[in-house]
Amino acid sequence: MIRALAFIVLLSFPVACVAKKLPSKRQSLNPVALWPLNAEHLTRDVSGNGNDGDARQVELDTTRHGDFCGAYRFMGKALSFIEFPNNGAYDTRYSITLAVHIFPEGPTGPIFNFKTNGWGVHLWHARNDDLVRFVTRSLAFTPGLTHTYALNTWNFVAATYDHDSGMERLFLNGAQVAQRRIGSIQLATQYKARMGSRVGDRRRFKGMITCMQIYDRALNALEIKAAGENANCPKCPRPNVAGDPHMRTFDGRAYSFQGVGWYTLVKDCSNQKPEFEINIDFVPREDTGDKLRTRALGLNVTVGKENVLIDGQNEVKVSGEQHINCYKKKRFTGDSGFYNQRYDIYY
Ligand SMILES: *[C@@H]1O[C@H](CO)[C@@H](O)[C@H](O)[C@H]1NC(C)=O
Repeated sequence: MIRALAFIVLLSFPVACVAKKLPSKRQSLNPVALWPLNAEHLTRDVSGNGNDGDARQVELDTTRHGDFCGAYRFMGKALSFIEFPNNGAYDTRYSITLAVHIFPEGPTGPIFNFKTNGWGVHLWHARNDDLVRFVTRSLAFTPGLTHTYALNTWNFVAATYDHDSGMERLFLNGAQVAQRRIGSIQLATQYKARMGSRVGDRRRFKGMITCMQIYDRALNALEIKAAGENANCPKCPRPNVAGDPHMRTFDGRAYSFQGVGWYTLVKDCSNQKPEFEINIDFVPREDTGDKLRTRALGLNVTVGKENVLIDGQNEVKVSGEQHINCYKKKRFTGDSGFYNQRYDIYY
């Protein structure tokens, strides 16, 4: 098996770059309820419909867990829940999409249960399955859908019901995993809802939940994927290096660095002899007067027993077997000779 590793190297930016946030894409999806459940929005409903949640004995967790740096932690106890009032805005009645990111750590419990002391439409973490059950307005159960997923990791769970087709569908991480025709019903979505626990039920959710969303129609798989990336529920910033140089570490911390010489930018720490390592030679820029600002001029990438060394003269030296394709795409954007190159390394 060939494992391919591709990376793009941007070297020597002449201009002091300020990390700029790109304008977020316009959302064409309009949730009828959207609770980001993170540090920025807490339990507020940012759909504009005013159904702000009420948090009880849950903790906002802002340490990094996988992709997310903000979520509510539920303790698996009766009084550890968030309750959502329902002024009618998310009483969708006919068709619906429920979508949420969950990090289950315990056996079973409610993720989003309409009717705090009974059973309206409900999405549950049931053992290692997710479960959705669409309940009729007169509180009759229809057959539910389940699918297995993993504990102690993020799962993006979504369930849809389409009144016209009578189809219920379950999605995991953006892909459809189950469906069934249950006929055209009217949904029990008129009640307030709870996350974490249900009155009189010993099964309580333990783990983390973030970014709960409701739509008043059955979204398709593409739309569900887009909902999973909703800009109000940001994932942790990705590690990166840009500018002169600004860095963001794998645990989300940002800093600027003006050291001169060879430094390790990134390496695999699982071995004494790293399988993967990038070292960079930072040199002072000449265009910043008395201020010391650096740029990366040399680069040494090691993968296994091979390495690629690019020196300050744009010379590329490759060691070991020639498993490396270089696509030299020089893009001179001024007189200081910075360039843009792509290398694919196979090993
Ligand atoms: C580049 O990396 C290789 C392999 O890790 C190492 O042997 C070599 O000394 C490095 N060269 C420089 C200039 O850092």
